[in-house]
Amino acid sequence: MCTADDGWIRKMVKKKGAFICIEGLDGSGKTTQAKLLVKKLKKTFDVIYTSEPSKGLIGTFIRKSYLYSENRLSPFVEALLFAADRIEHVKNEIIPALNKGKIVISDRYVYSSLAYQGAGEVSLDWIQEINKKSLSPDLAIFIDVDPEKVFCRLNSEKSVMETLETQQKVRELYLKFVEEKKLILINGDNSKNRVAEELVSLVNSFLENF
Ligand code: TYD
Repeated sequence: MCTADDGWIRKMVKKKGAFICIEGLDGSGKTTQAKLLVKKLKKTFDVIYTSEPSKGLIGTFIRKSYLYSENRLSPFVEALLFAADRIEHVKNEIIPALNKGKIVISDRYVYSSLAYQGAGEVSLDWIQEINKKSLSPDLAIFIDVDPEKVFCRLNSEKSVMETLETQQKVRELYLKFVEEKKLILINGDNSKNRVAEELVSLVNSFLENF
């Protein structure tokens, strides 16, 4: 999806590892699954786990000063913040790891911006535009869950994104990307073990042909 103008950043990638992102709603279990995936792949591959918002300056600001604050910023401003964090994440963490030939598993990436800020009525074209300086993932996976089922599992301290209505809109957009074959869907309503098995088998067959 975001391949249009990533040429300059592609050029920074010297030795190619594989870049895989895992997407999903809040409470979908994607962090647990991404970490389990890394653990299993480690038996065979050189692999790292990373996530967005990143641990960099802007990601830390988003996590610590914004996500759990009183008021939601305009989704346009959010999109700019997440895009800025992503450029830093790509430059400082993802590309250096890919250049060492590692497999990078990112817990959230550009599809989070397209789905969450897209759900806030920000144009998808504009979100893509401001993310052109990021790298396209080689494989993007969506762990799909029923928003109503997971909503009651979320902490009482909910982030500015965590209303049921937002989560439902976010899911609709993720499903649109699945239909457009930009994301591969895994059913996250199955048991934790079953989801983990499906994820490992999907990633292994992708890596065999990579
Ligand atoms: P989340 O994966 O829930 O982090 P954690 O579980 O560690 O707190 O991500 C934080 C929130 O940020 C989540 O509600 C989704 C939102 N988000 C966006 O809205 N746009 C983005 O581009 C990204 C990366 C995250």
